[in-house]
Amino acid sequence: MERYLRKCWVMAGWAEEIGDAGLVRQLLGRPTFIYRLENGGLAALLDRCPHRFAPLSKGTREGDRVVCGYHGLTFDSAGQCVRNPFAERIPAGACVPSFAVAERDGIVWLWAGAAEDADPALIPDFGFVPDTAHSRTVRGYTLMQANYEYGTDNLLDLSHIEFVHKGTFAGQGVIFAGEHTVALEGDTLHSNWWMPGIAPPSMAQDAFPPDAKVDHWLDMRWNAPASMRLHVGVSLHGAGREAGFQVPQAHILTPADEHTTHYFWSSTRYDALDSAEVDGALLALFGEAFDLEDKPMIEAAYANVRGKDFWAEKPLSLGIDQGGTRARRLLESMIARESAVDG
Ligand code: FES
Ligand SMILES: [Fe+2]
Repeated sequence: MERYLRKCWVMAGWAEEIGDAGLVRQLLGRPTFIYRLENGGLAALLDRCPHRFAPLSKGTREGDRVVCGYHGLTFDSAGQCVRNPFAERIPAGACVPSFAVAERDGIVWLWAGAAEDADPALIPDFGFVPDTAHSRTVRGYTLMQANYEYGTDNLLDLSHIEFVHKGTFAGQGVIFAGEHTVALEGDTLHSNWWMPGIAPPSMAQDAFPPDAKVDHWLDMRWNAPASMRLHVGVSLHGAGREAGFQVPQAHILTPADEHTTHYFWSSTRYDALDSAEVDGALLALFGEAFDLEDKPMIEAAYANVRGKDFWAEKPLSLGIDQGGTRARRLLESMIARESAVDG
């Protein structure tokens, strides 16, 4: 049985996924029903009626209340049963677990632990995601048949770009020309590549003359359990980072359960803001990279060790794994810290 970190926020979905019918998603092993309240806020309930376990999402809504579609028990947004169609009395224990949810940066975050501990100050910053007058973001989602920490390993070790992303991001081995640093800042981990004085990487070839020398960086920030932000940047060699072009990306992983992971990604640009054609090209590029290149490799690797303890399998360690290894160790210590406090 997986032990999840509880005192943290996980991404439940993109805000626009919460339509009139709400959103049903397996999160941390629990079927979760998220819906919009009349005041525009959000509620999240376990999607399982305590009577005969019908999904509450298959019921109807009466204002902010949810009416079970099977026998009509009615619950308020905190999960308390407020109406029993068969008697005046509400049976003892007629309630369904509810979760704290918050909406920020176009992202719906769910607090993994007890709602009373939810601390909005701990929501990682993805302020670049919402469109502005100067920026435009494309977003995507894919479901991976692998434990989320294998997805983290992949994202904190971008050297795989040269091997896995041959059809998309790979280019002249530039990642090997760089310096990789891993640093911890509080509970935030940084895994950064810095590649100075190289030929323009494939994603920037249109922006620079082919014989130009550029500086290129890939800065990945990790927050538990697996919410990552990637800053991709390229500037003329020596011109400074501000002079170059930047592509902030979200790579946010949320465990559906021990063996399945929601992968939410986004990429922001600062030009061609109104171009549906550019949107389409980027969605196709990232779709290919994440769905057809990363995902099959991560799933196939995970299938080889599914259900086994990662460290007991004695993974070989290469220098490139520092980021993933640090994230795994950090998460383990955070979970152990919580278990020590909560028993
Ligand atoms: S299963 Fe919900 S009221 Fe019976
Ligand atoms: Fe990748």
